[in-house]
Parts: sequence; structure tokens; C-alpha cells
Amino acid sequence: MALISLVVFVLLLGVVGASTVPPVYIFGDSTADVGNNNFLPGNTAKANFPHNGIDFPHQKATGRFSNGFNGVDFIAKTMGHLRSPPPFLSFTNTTYHKHIFKGVNFASGGSGILDSTGSTLTMRMQLKHFSTVRSNISARVGEKAADEILSKSIFIVSTGGNDMFAFFAQFRPVNTTQREKFVATLISNYEDHVKTLYNLGARKFAIIGVPNVGCCPSIRSSNPTGDCINDLNVYASEFNEATKSLMHKLSSNYKGMKHAIGSTYEVVSNIMKNPHELVGGRLLADYE
Ligand SMILES: *[C@@H]1O[C@H](CO)[C@@H](O)[C@H](O)[C@H]1NC(C)=O
Ligand SMILES: *[C@@H]1O[C@H](CO)[C@@H](O)[C@H](O)[C@H]1NC(C)=O
Ligand SMILES: *[C@@H]1O[C@H](CO)[C@@H](O)[C@H](O)[C@H]1NC(C)=O
Repeated sequence: MALISLVVFVLLLGVVGASTVPPVYIFGDSTADVGNNNFLPGNTAKANFPHNGIDFPHQKATGRFSNGFNGVDFIAKTMGHLRSPPPFLSFTNTTYHKHIFKGVNFASGGSGILDSTGSTLTMRMQLKHFSTVRSNISARVGEKAADEILSKSIFIVSTGGNDMFAFFAQFRPVNTTQREKFVATLISNYEDHVKTLYNLGARKFAIIGVPNVGCCPSIRSSNPTGDCINDLNVYASEFNEATKSLMHKLSSNYKGMKHAIGSTYEVVSNIMKNPHELVGGRLLADYE
């Protein structure tokens, strides 16, 4: 299921079959981080130690919050990349210009849509880093060529779950009014982020929705019954619905803008309902 969804997702953006591999710029949280947090000081969420990476080539713990490749690696592979581009914070002056024309991963584990959520490398800060990258690209090739390059690039955004965890930890129980207000706040901030990217030249958006975060093992273990926490899943599904409307509205109003939304909520629900379909790590093997 996951395999099919990712392929369809990339097909929707019309990148498969293109003669060159389009650059990919990635933003978001631990679902997309490939090592930026390794470079952040302090007690930031980190994953650059075993057993993270145990199924990664050479069993390397790269900082991915995963046993192996993560979701954005698989999407990048489907587009023709080897995996996700490297973390922005890993670039040295000598490697910088080699990388920025192919793609950059700005994501940071713990971050969210809101500035108040988690990581110091907030979405706002990630966008600021991208703005620097854009200015470095245009300094090399000129504004017009930079626009051309970025209009053909794919912009992946995978965020939102941590905002829900933070809200859930702070306010409960919540009534319908509070919940609707929370989702509206997330969406209005999300809209600002997408507009910022558009104004910097992004045109093709690959949006990853929020999965059923109420079923995360750590969340379930905090529930005396061991069940999923429904409130969190309700936040996720209401947010996902609102994201669909938002992206539809923006794509209708902004010239040249295209988008596809990958529903991790559906992918995870399908895996939970049909775990036997995953026997033997088949999905991973398909990508070797
Ligand atoms: C990279 O270049 C900037 C100026 O362009 C300089 O300030 C910085 O020290 C350099 N970093 C390294 C690691 O050489
Ligand atoms: C990228 O651009 C920023 C500001 O626009 C500049 O400060 C920085 O030195 C540039 N980096 C490189 C490696 O050229
Ligand atoms: C929901 O909760 C908020 C904050 O506690 C409160 O101000 C509001 O009156 C409540 N609304 C309803 C419909 O219960």
C-alpha cells in the first residue's frame, strides 16, 4: 500500500519520465529529517545512534528517525535521486554549491507548523534557510534562471504531528470550539508557510499529511488501555481535510502552482488493518 501510494503521489506531480531528475527541497519534522538535528546544540531530539539506522546502508545511524530510509528518502528515490538530499546544516563551503542545485533537506525533528512547537529549527527558520539558498542560486545564475530552476523543483512539506502532541499535552479535555480554533490556527500558519515558499519561487508542492498520531506506540503506551488516543487522531484527520481545502484554494488562485497530497493517515491505517501485507520487509526490499 505504502509503495503504491508513493509512486502515484510522484506521478501526480508529473516528474516521472522527465529527462532530468528535478531538484527536491524538503521541509518538516522527524518524518523528514535526515540529520539536521545532529548539528543543533542542546537537548534537541536526536537519532544519530543505534538502533536507528540498523537497516540503513552500512547500518549507519545518520540522524534519521528510522530503522532505515524514511518517507522522504523513498519519495526522492522514486523521482530518480539516490535518497533524500543531505541536511542543510551538513554543508561546508566547498560542498555548498555542488548541492544546492540538486536539492536540500531543511527538516528538523521536533519542529512543527507553529514557532512554539519543539525544535529551534522551526518551519519559519527552515524557510529562512531556503531563502538564503535561493539567493545563493540566483547569485550564481541570475534571478530568471533561478525562477526557472525552482519552478521545476519539487517542494516536500511533512509537518503537523508535533503541534498536535504539544496541544494535547497542554489542553485536555478540549471542546469542539477549542479544537476547531486550534486546527484553524495551524492552517493559517501553514498557509503563510506555503505562500512564503511560493513567493520564493516554489510551484510544485508535495504535501505529506499527518498520520494517525494517536496510534504512535509512545502515545498508546501512555494510555492505560493501550489503545490509540482518539482525540489526537481527530486532530490529524480534521487538519488533513482542512489542508486539502487550503491547497486546493491556493492552487486555484496562484499562477503555476500545482500540488499533490500524500495521505500517511491512510497508509498507516492500511498497514494497521493489514499487517500481513508487510511480512518480510517486502516494501523496503522493493527499493534496494
Ligand atoms: C565559509 O565562508 C564564510 C564566508 O563566505 C566564512 O565566514 C566561513 O568562516 C567559512 N566557513 C568555513 C568552514 O570555511
Ligand atoms: C549565500 O547567501 C548569503 C546571503 O544572501 C550569504 O551571506 C552567504 O555567504 C552565501 N553563501 C555562499 C556559500 O555563497
Ligand atoms: C470551550 O472551552 C473554552 C475554554 O475552556 C470556553 O471558554 C468555552 O466557553 C467552551 N465552549 C463550549 C461550547 O463549551
